[in-house]
Amino acid sequence: MPQSEQNIVLKINSVSVVFDGFFALTEVDIAVERHTIRFFIGPNGAGKTTLLDIICAKTKPTSGTVQFFPVGRAPVRLTGMKEHRIVTEGVGRKFQVPSVFVNLTVMDNMVLSLRGHKGVIDSIFHRPSKADIEDIERILERVDLRDRRDVKAGTLAHGEKQWLEIAMQLVQKPELIMLDEPAAGMGKSETFKTGEILREIKKECSVIVVEHDMEFVKQVADMVTVLHEGKVLMEGQVGDVLADKTVQAVYLGRGGER
Ligand SMILES: Nc1ncnc2c1ncn2[C@@H]1O[C@H](COP(=O)(O)OP(=O)(O)OP(=O)(O)O)[C@@H](O)[C@H]1O
Ligand SMILES: [Mg+2]
Repeated sequence: MPQSEQNIVLKINSVSVVFDGFFALTEVDIAVERHTIRFFIGPNGAGKTTLLDIICAKTKPTSGTVQFFPVGRAPVRLTGMKEHRIVTEGVGRKFQVPSVFVNLTVMDNMVLSLRGHKGVIDSIFHRPSKADIEDIERILERVDLRDRRDVKAGTLAHGEKQWLEIAMQLVQKPELIMLDEPAAGMGKSETFKTGEILREIKKECSVIVVEHDMEFVKQVADMVTVLHEGKVLMEGQVGDVLADKTVQAVYLGRGGER
């Protein structure tokens, strides 16, 4: 592998997705660097969520491939894998709808996700080890929920629930996590705090974020890929991308920014 490619964690190679003759994505090529926060932005219907669905193998591309490059292991072809296998390989995804167990405590939610999809049965018979608990506490500290560990997840504020979900991803030690609109429904200060949490997290893994809030993009993004009508319109540093006349025209024309 050439020197320049050693820092790549994910490669999307000429991916196209056709739904009943409609091109949701057309020959998309993207390379994401390790330990960076990459944003996919673009107006409604640009293909952002479809692209996340392709990466986590929820949707199969019509053509093209996605490769994941874990540290110290051979490259993994994500295309065509089962969705749950992808999590085991080290790629996590937080969906927009929160999926915490509201009647369980923050701690119990964390223990369940530690066990992955075998969680429920397994946690009835085995108590988490001391090392597991320490690990969970360290992650809860990261998202500022350590002193909420014994409250029921259902009583958390909206922002706290989102942070718990991020923590539930981290407990599985992913090398890449994907977040679809993590700041949706949050106020200014919660959004800012989410950004600070993501900047901490990127020390441990790479992050892909889909988000409409441009203040948030400016605060957090290392690199931005702009999608428009299923194609990559532009890619670069956040300042350059947002200053670009074509990008601005796309947003003004379609009202993509909330
Ligand atoms: N399963 C599907 N079948 C048919 N068309 C689909 C399907 N999923 C998505 N599309 C279409 O593909 C296009 C891209 O959708 P996608 O959800 O990826 O956009 P997006 O960039 O995430 O938009 P938003 O910002 O509104 O979330 C849209 O025109 C959408 O209607
Ligand atoms: Mg979407």
